[in-house]
Amino acid sequence: MQSAAFRLFFDRFFSRLINYLGNNECQATIPEAGACESTVTLTRVKSFTPTVCGPSAEQVPIRWRGEVQHVLISEEQIARRIRKMSRDIVRDFSGREMVVVSLLNGTVLFLADLIRNLSLPLRLDFIGISSYGNGTQSGELVVTKELRLDVEGRDVLLVDDILDTGKTLVRVQKMLTALNPRRIKICVLLKKEARRINLIEADYVGFEIPDIFVVGYGLDFAERFRNLPFLGVLKPGVYQNPVPTELVSKRNRVSHS
Ligand code: IMP
Ligand code: MG
Repeated sequence: MQSAAFRLFFDRFFSRLINYLGNNECQATIPEAGACESTVTLTRVKSFTPTVCGPSAEQVPIRWRGEVQHVLISEEQIARRIRKMSRDIVRDFSGREMVVVSLLNGTVLFLADLIRNLSLPLRLDFIGISSYGNGTQSGELVVTKELRLDVEGRDVLLVDDILDTGKTLVRVQKMLTALNPRRIKICVLLKKEARRINLIEADYVGFEIPDIFVVGYGLDFAERFRNLPFLGVLKPGVYQNPVPTELVSKRNRVSHS
């Protein structure tokens, strides 16, 4: 049996180790908290997509303890990883003006941190696309905002929060391809491999995570928790009893015609 102190030491040590390795093109897996056997597997991989399994050693801030079960990826880990991704993007896109196309709403925090690290000339636009699913299941895709900038002949960086089944990115990639850009590269903060139903890969990936529903840093559950500065997992009770999402009814939508 492990004591709580040992577990804390273990978590802190390996969280630091993983942060360090994160800058050195490695992949790491941390065992789940509470697991009896503590083993760590470190595998060298060609492109860096760290798998973060099990809670981070970071404590959930007091304000969020009622609803958030644990921190999966801390603010510091996110910031460090985004700096590294930005360097890769700058290297690949230098010499031409790029158009960053970001998907609303989940990318807001990620995008802001990403582009402030991109020391390149760029133009920014958004596509609103939503899967009006219930809770943690995705539903039918609805385009809520069209692209405004012309991307013909341009280098496009398509940014999304998470690549899960792949439905969203496949749909947007098709929409963009029809506009004849020079090339499209895809950048996501997170990817989950388990539920992929479409053949699509991202060129830049922050973290690969296991098949669990995460919130924070722009990602929501029933439109809440986007403002968490870290990525976390909610307590089961929150998923079971969501506060209903209130959307503007068609009758009340502002008309510009
Ligand atoms: P996909 O179309 O299945 O790849 O899913 C993409 C969209 O599903 C993302 O842009 C998110 O809005 C949502 N999504 C998928 N997994 C999660 C999650 O774990 N937390 C929050 N949103 C998620
Ligand atoms: Mg989204």
